[in-house]
Amino acid sequence: MSATVASPKHLLGMDGMSRDGLEEILDLTDTFAEVGRRSIPKVPALRGKTVASLFFEDSTRTRMSFETAAKRLSADTMTFTAGSSSLSKGESLRDTVEVIGSYGADAIVVRHGMAGTPHRVADWTDACVINAGDGCHEHPTQALLDCYTLREKRGNLDGMRIAIVGDVRNSRVARSNVLAFSMLGAEVVLVAPPTLLPPSVDGWPVSISHDLDQVLTGLDACYLLRMQRERINEGLVPSLREYASDYGMDARRAKLLPADAVILHPGPTNPGVELTVEVATDPRSVILDQVSNGVSVRMAVLFMLLGSVLDVAPSRSSDDSEADG
Ligand code: NCD
Repeated sequence: MSATVASPKHLLGMDGMSRDGLEEILDLTDTFAEVGRRSIPKVPALRGKTVASLFFEDSTRTRMSFETAAKRLSADTMTFTAGSSSLSKGESLRDTVEVIGSYGADAIVVRHGMAGTPHRVADWTDACVINAGDGCHEHPTQALLDCYTLREKRGNLDGMRIAIVGDVRNSRVARSNVLAFSMLGAEVVLVAPPTLLPPSVDGWPVSISHDLDQVLTGLDACYLLRMQRERINEGLVPSLREYASDYGMDARRAKLLPADAVILHPGPTNPGVELTVEVATDPRSVILDQVSNGVSVRMAVLFMLLGSVLDVAPSRSSDDSEADG
């Protein structure tokens, strides 16, 4: 199958993306999900391209899924690890970006604790830049994979009522998902104690509730956010136990959710805080689907930024015959 797709330069956030652009990536993801189901899940689409990962914050899912996605597209990969780099010798972020550029990176996937860092990186390089999470600001590929997962389960998001529950204040996932879900026609309600909401949600296309039990019965999807313990440096909740009792998803609350509702969490979970182990394995939980869809969505994003003509015929040459799985 061949197709051409629009080619923006960077993916820095959901802010500024159009509904058409978002849906185009989700449609393209279907193609790469099909590749992922093959016995050798690898195509030559990005052969000769190099994808560099520049992660200044810990990550399991995002980092591994970007690297898997790049390898499934036959791109070369380069990995920068902050702890073992020349940053410890005082090298600046800009120098680091320039070094990566001079090694020939075509795309740089950036995760950083400071909001806006991927935007700065984009000013310093000719490579395409993908935001893999910047502080409390945005995490666009998480929003894309969440939209894809909901679309896969429910057809489309138009008219869905989705609760985003928990530490909205410190969550980049919440910001990107509010924009993406509402762009696709869903109604979003933020459910959190006042201390875990941003100082202002003026202009956000959301309603607010502090009462999870009352919201649950009318939901199509319940998105539980990870408590951002690494970013919380003040007593925003009296204790995690109290938070769990007011906002955690347990067996009693899961019974209030409609039978066809969907439960999501970006991972990693804090078991017993945002949700119990029992709820994580409830048939309505799509947490593992989110993880596997992450690879297909990131293949679509990398292809959209770096590819030209889409040819997903299996790789034929001998050096492509080894699957990266
Ligand atoms: C998210 C992140 O790091 O922002 N996780 C992820 O990318 N899978 C969500 C989180 O850690 O809360």
